[in-house]
Order: sequence, then C-alpha cells, then structure tokens
Amino acid sequence: MNPSLIDVGIAGYGCSIPERSVDNNYFTRFFETSDEWIMQRTGIQARRWLKDDEKPSDMFTAASERCLEKSGVNAEDVDLIILATVSGDHLGVPATACIVQDNIGAKNAAAFDIQAACTGFLYALSVGRQFVATGAYKNVLVIGGEGLSRIIDIYDRGTSIIFGDGAGAVLLQPHETCQQGLIEDITLGADGAGAQFITRPRGGAMEQITPDILSEGTHQLRMKGREVYRFAVSRMTELMAWAMEGQDPEELSIVVPHQVNKRILETATAKLDLPPEKVYINIDKYGNTSAGSVPVALCECLDAGKIEKGKLVVMAAFGAGLTWGGARLRW
Ligand code: UT7
Repeated sequence: MNPSLIDVGIAGYGCSIPERSVDNNYFTRFFETSDEWIMQRTGIQARRWLKDDEKPSDMFTAASERCLEKSGVNAEDVDLIILATVSGDHLGVPATACIVQDNIGAKNAAAFDIQAACTGFLYALSVGRQFVATGAYKNVLVIGGEGLSRIIDIYDRGTSIIFGDGAGAVLLQPHETCQQGLIEDITLGADGAGAQFITRPRGGAMEQITPDILSEGTHQLRMKGREVYRFAVSRMTELMAWAMEGQDPEELSIVVPHQVNKRILETATAKLDLPPEKVYINIDKYGNTSAGSVPVALCECLDAGKIEKGKLVVMAAFGAGLTWGGARLRW
C-alpha cells in the first residue's frame, strides 16, 4: 500500500443468524431430492432462513449492534456504513444501509449499499479500507449479509437447497487505534462475461415485472451451478495462493473462505496442500449465505479462539458477476 496511507485494522465484529433451521428433508415436498444428495454434493446439512415476520435489516442491525458493542464504539461515532447485499429489504431503493443507520442510531454516518454477490463483503471491506486509509473517516462499519431465502425459487432444486440467510459486520479503524486485525492486502476481480451464470434473469429495470415473469419465477435467483463449479475451484485456489505468496506457511492462522460448497473448498484445500483444520467450514449448518458467509465465518473463528494474535488470516470469495476477491489480514 502507498506509504502515505494509514494502516487499517478491524476493531470489532458481530454476526446474526436467524433461529429457524431448515433441514434437507424439507425440500423433498417440493421436488425430487434427498438428504444424501444434498450432503454429498454441497456438504450442507441445514441452512437458516428468516421467519415470515423477520426482515434482512433485522439481521444486519443485530450484527452491527454486536459489532459496535465489541468495538466499544458508540453508534453516533460511526462515520460510514457500507452494506454488501443482493437481498436487502427493498428492490434497491432505499439502500438497506440507511435502514440499518436509523435502527442503530448512527445519525452522523453516511450509508450506502454495494453489491458484488458472494464477494460483496470483500468489496465492501476494500472500499471501507480506503476511507480509513486516506484519513477521511475513523470508524467505518462494514456489513455483509443476505436474506436469500426471500429471493430463491423454492421449486428450483439447483438453487433453493444451497442458499441461506445470515449477516456479519466489522468495524474498521486506523490500526494505530484498534491494534488488531491489520488489513495487509486485498485483491478484487470481475468477469462480466459470466454474468448470466448466476442471475435474477428478469424483472429488473431492463424489463418490468409482469404476471408472466411472476408465474415463471424468473425474477428469482437462478444459477448454472455446473458451469461455475470448475471456475469456482480454480479461483478459490488462486486467491488462497495469492494471499500466501511470499509468506511463511507457519504464519497462517486460518483461511476464512466464502462457504460456496464444501466440495469446492475441500478441493482447493487439497490442491494447496493445506491441512484441512486450517480452512474454516461452517456451510454444513448455515448453507451458502453469499455476502454474509465470510463475515459470519470470521466472527465464529474469533469467538472460538481459532485466530492467533499476530498471525495471518486469509479470506477468499467468489460469486455472481462473476466476481472474486481475496484478503490477507494479520491479527
Ligand atoms: O456462491 C456463489 C457461487 N456459486 C457457485 O460457485 C456454485 C458452484 N456449483 C455448485 O455448488 C454445484 O454445481 C451445485 C451444488 C449447485 C450442483 O451440484 P453438481 O454436482 O454440480 O450437480 P449438477 O448441477 O451437475 O447436477 C447433477 C444432477 C443433474 O441430473 P442429471 O442431469 O445428471 O440427470 C441435476 O438435475 O443432479 C440433479 N440435481 C439434483 N438432484 C437431487 C440438481 N439439483 C439436485 C437436487 N437434488 N437438489
């Protein structure tokens, strides 16, 4: 990083996962599938979905409040809120970050959403880091989360089984202030030629929602899983390798990857010869929560004492866009 910029660290963290757990057998009433197929192909045993009376912003708010409490920072002192999501409360307007800003009482904060699907948290982390690194802001709240259960088609067996709801948040500060979670490096990428592989094909501003679209369900999430599978394996492997290039492997505390699919993570781990215990996996209980998955996994690793002070944490994510991102932190 440019030496005139300020080093940025993570002062605190928090996450929120819905209580409602949906097991694999739930799907057998909608289409032909089995617990065995889902477990074997994805590693998912259950996912958490919002209850009917809960909103995505409820999770984003709870994660943010926990994060501020852990950071010891008052909501009025937050300068900026960046929320990464593709499944906020509304269809893009207003930004759900503004709803969170009001809920937590961060009345002095600017707020906006960004979307880079499963890579969203890493994009948001990178954007937030710039505001702190330039000295523009001192407290930037970065949230990644999804209410994907609200945008899937329950009858589409290629997507409905995979996705879950959840959210995590971190507070960025100058590293000098918080003395932990130093963000050493971030890399981001995109390839729009793969845009059609994971998409809500119809019902955007390109084409207004019609009764036909509603009955087809093509305003909901569709994924050509097989087409992106190989790409996901190689990208996740490359991102983890990028983060560790020139680093002593002994320095690695843990890899916190996007919980894309357990098989993809296991293949990447084996290709890099990493000990399996160095790659955190929680997809079995939460499913793939897209922008929520990296921050939720980070929170769990920190709470479980899996991150050693002074050692490296690697984050890697891949998703719709197509987009990808990696980060190396020194805790
Ligand atoms: O996080 C964002 C980025 N996402 C990704 O990177 C997703 C990457 N892809 C995947 O995780 C996997 O492709 C899936 C888990 C989505 C699917 O697993 P797969 O091993 O790639 O299965 P497939 O799509 O190749 O389907 C194999 C067969 C098909 O039947 P035929 O054509 O061989 O007769 C599917 O119709 O399995 C069938 N199938 C199912 N069977 C039972 C697809 N979904 C299901 C299901 N239950 N839920």
